[in-house]
Amino acid sequence: MPLPYSEIVMEHFRHPRNVGRIEDADAKAIEGSPACGDMVAVYLKVDPEALRITDVKFESYGCASNIATGSIITELAKGQTLEEAKEISWKQASEALGGLPPIKTHCSVLAVDGLRAAIQNYEERHGLVKERVPTTIGVIRKRLKRVMNPMTGLDLVRTKIVKDIELNEGRVRVAIDLPADHQFAANIREEIREKIEPLWDVRKVVVEFTE
Ligand code: FES
Repeated sequence: MPLPYSEIVMEHFRHPRNVGRIEDADAKAIEGSPACGDMVAVYLKVDPEALRITDVKFESYGCASNIATGSIITELAKGQTLEEAKEISWKQASEALGGLPPIKTHCSVLAVDGLRAAIQNYEERHGLVKERVPTTIGVIRKRLKRVMNPMTGLDLVRTKIVKDIELNEGRVRVAIDLPADHQFAANIREEIREKIEPLWDVRKVVVEFTE
């Protein structure tokens, strides 16, 4: 039985706004949903003086609800300051879309998490993080929970391929239980580095493959 989507959801799904990537983005984030294994990427251009979002685009590997939410929140975020855009919630997005079926809540949460992660990425890359909490193994593990294992659609931690994490004076070493010549090894390494390197007190990230 088809899900009861509103007209607005269907319109944004069929004609999503701001789809694509920004090649010279000032910040970007890829977020995965633990609920369904789908992913969303969000790219930002930011006016560094006003800290205002001048352009935002997204790529969705998710469902109609995710695409429609990505479309509506990028519309809402464009022209807003980073602080304003941080306040956009999945509830607000869902209301703007005329409601989403409850079973699809995680899809709009994923899109909003993607936007927030891109904003966080900008702040980390530009020294704008206000609370400089020292990085711990726990913080790194939490970030690795946001990197998908493309073989399963679940995150690296849940699929138990993170074998070891070391942290020593800003140097991070992550051991992944995969052969170095595995088809997804380069991609996983890049995503781990993208998630960990922006941490304010991290100087180097080394990803090792164990087999
Ligand atoms: Fe995965 Fe909607 S089911 S994003």
